Formats: sequence, C-alpha cells, structure tokens
Amino acid sequence: MRIFLDTANLDEIRKGAAYGIVDGVTTNPSLIAKEGVPIEEQVKRICEIVDGDISAEVVAIEAKAMISEGLKLAKIHKNIVVKLPLIRDGIIACSALSKEGIRTNVTLCFSPAQALLAAKAGAYLISPFVGRLDDIGDVGMDLITSICKIYKNYSFKTQVLAASLRSPLHVVQAAEAGAHVGTLPYKVLDMLFNHPLTDKGLEQFLKDHAKAFEAK
Ligand code: E4P
Repeated sequence: MRIFLDTANLDEIRKGAAYGIVDGVTTNPSLIAKEGVPIEEQVKRICEIVDGDISAEVVAIEAKAMISEGLKLAKIHKNIVVKLPLIRDGIIACSALSKEGIRTNVTLCFSPAQALLAAKAGAYLISPFVGRLDDIGDVGMDLITSICKIYKNYSFKTQVLAASLRSPLHVVQAAEAGAHVGTLPYKVLDMLFNHPLTDKGLEQFLKDHAKAFEAK
C-alpha cells in the first residue's frame, strides 16, 4: 500500500518525508485554507519536498470551470493529480480531464455506486472517506472492501485511496481490504511507529550492552 500524507502543512510534510516512506500528499480546500497560502503556491512547495502524487483540489462546482481550473493546477508540476468532488459535474470534468491524459483523484466518495461512476470516468484515484462514515454510525471500512471488490471484478485501473483514516487500526484495515493507497494525517503516521514492546525491548538491549561493555 502506498502511503500519502493528508496535510498541506510543510513542516509535517518535511518530517514525514524524512522517513523515506511517503509516496505522495493529498490536500483539500480546508487543509489549504488552514495554511493561509494560495493553492498554486502551496502545492508547488509541496512538490519540491515530496516526489510523488500531489493532489490539488478544484473549488469550482460547474464542469467547464472545473476543467479549466484542473488544467491550470495540472500545469503547476508533473506530479499534480487534479482532485474533483464526486458530483455530476465532477464526473463530467473527470471524463474530460482523463481524456486529456490528466490524472484525477475523485473525492468525497461515500458509496460503491459513486466509485463505479468515477472508475467509468477514468479516474486515476478514488477517495472513499472512512472516518466520516464512521462519524455517522456506518462502518466506513466496508466501503473500501466493496470498492476493491468491484474494481477487481472488472479490472478497473482506478486505484482505491482510503481517505479520512483516523487511526492506526484504520490504516491496517485499509491495507487488509486491499486499498492501493492510504492517506494519513501526520499524527496517524507518527502513531504507526509506536509499540510498548519495541521501547521495552530496546531499553533492555541497551542496558545489557552497557553492562557488558561499558567501563564501570
Ligand atoms: C482526503 O483526501 C481527505 O481530504 C481527507 O482524508 C479527509 O479526512 P477527514 O475526514 O479526517 O477530514
């Protein structure tokens, strides 16, 4: 499973990239707004830090405007993936941009039926939101399982990007379900490292080594 960071914060992206395990970054209009920098500028900076897929989302909601915004975003850097909301006009824009060879990430996906439409429109990535479904009492992970099954049945090339992952358990379950990508807030990436037995084991190793070899 590829790992993306779900943030537009440059410090978090630098810290995550330093591990050498980050394959891309997803942003959305809320994450960009939090940084207070125009999207063109911010995603350009992100592209300089991470050499991988960088999702940049349009804010237009009418197909023609989405297409021209998408074309502009795609020109910023070769690694930009144009993110489009899963509404009717978003699917029209996805079909048009895909035909132009521009890679798209269709976002705000909450049902397998919606995911089917995105794949038919040639989306490069589909972003089903796990955590937001959990928030309303659904089992968000079931959506990942269902989409992976449907895409496999028909050999769709669209990759499943498990989004809105809020915990290490979400990450593991998304990997088990067969998601191609998981996008994680920096906090969740950091939590993946933790295990008390690793800390305890290392402490003991160092203690034993010091006892045997360090001057008394
Ligand atoms: C991904 O592309 C989304 O922007 C993100 O994962 C949403 O996560 P949230 O539901 O925690 O805001």
